[in-house]
Amino acid sequence: MRKKIVAGNWKMNMTTEEATSLVNGLKAELAIFRGADVVVCPPFTAISTVSALVQGTHIDLGAQNMHWEKSGAYTGEISAAMLRELYCHYVILGHSERRTYFGETDEIVNRKVKAALAATLHPIVCVGETLAQREAGEVETVITTQVRGSLAGLSQKEILDSVIAYEPVWAIGTGKTATSAQAQEVHALIRKTLASMYDAAIADGVRIQYGGSVKPGNAKELFSMPDIDGGLIGGAALDAKSFIDIVRAAV
Ligand code: PGA
Repeated sequence: MRKKIVAGNWKMNMTTEEATSLVNGLKAELAIFRGADVVVCPPFTAISTVSALVQGTHIDLGAQNMHWEKSGAYTGEISAAMLRELYCHYVILGHSERRTYFGETDEIVNRKVKAALAATLHPIVCVGETLAQREAGEVETVITTQVRGSLAGLSQKEILDSVIAYEPVWAIGTGKTATSAQAQEVHALIRKTLASMYDAAIADGVRIQYGGSVKPGNAKELFSMPDIDGGLIGGAALDAKSFIDIVRAAV
C-alpha cells in the first residue's frame, strides 16, 4: 500500500517573513498529521527558517532544485549536501519550468537525480507533455522518454526512494486541470514503463504524484484514482487553508 504524498512547490515566492507565517498556519493543523506525507519546498533563501519551524513536526522539507556536482566553481548553484545540512529530505528535479526556462534535459535531470540519491535526498522527478505534444498524439512517447531518461541507471532501492510527479505542462498554473481519467491514464502508463524497466512489484511501490492546478475542489477526485498517490501543488500551496484542505483530501 503506497502512502500518499502531498508536496507544496512554492516556486519563486515567499520571503522568510511570509514563509514563517505560512508555515505557522500549516503547523496549526498538520504538525501531528500522519494521514499522508506532507512536504513543503520553499525557495533556497527560506529553507533554513522553515527547517527550524518544522523541526519536531511531521511536516517534511524539500528544495526545488540542486546541482549535480558535490562542490566547486558553479556560481549560483546549491549542492545536495547543502540541502541535507538544512534537514531537507526531498528535492524537486526536472520541473517543467526548469526544463523550459533553464534548458534542463533528461540527461541533466538524471545526473541530478543520481546526486540527490547519493546524498540520501528523495528526488521528486517531474515529467509531463506540452499541449502541442498532447494534441499531436505524442503523450506516450514523451512520457516514456522522460521517465526512461530522467531515471536511467537507478537501482531498485533508488527507484523506490524516488517520487515521480506527472505534471502536464498545459495544466500548470493555468487553472486547467487534467481530468482524473486523463491523469490516471498517464499515471498507469508511467507505472507500466517502470514495470518494464524493473518489474511489476517495484513499479507498484513507486509513488506517482499528479501536479497541475490541483485545488481543494478537485483534489479528492484526483487522489482517489488507483495510480495517483498524491499531488505536487503550486499556487494552492501558498495559502495555508487551501494546502491543508488538499492534504486532507489525500486521506
Ligand atoms: P500549479 O503548479 O499547482 O500552480 O498548477 C504545480 C507545479 O508546477 O508544481
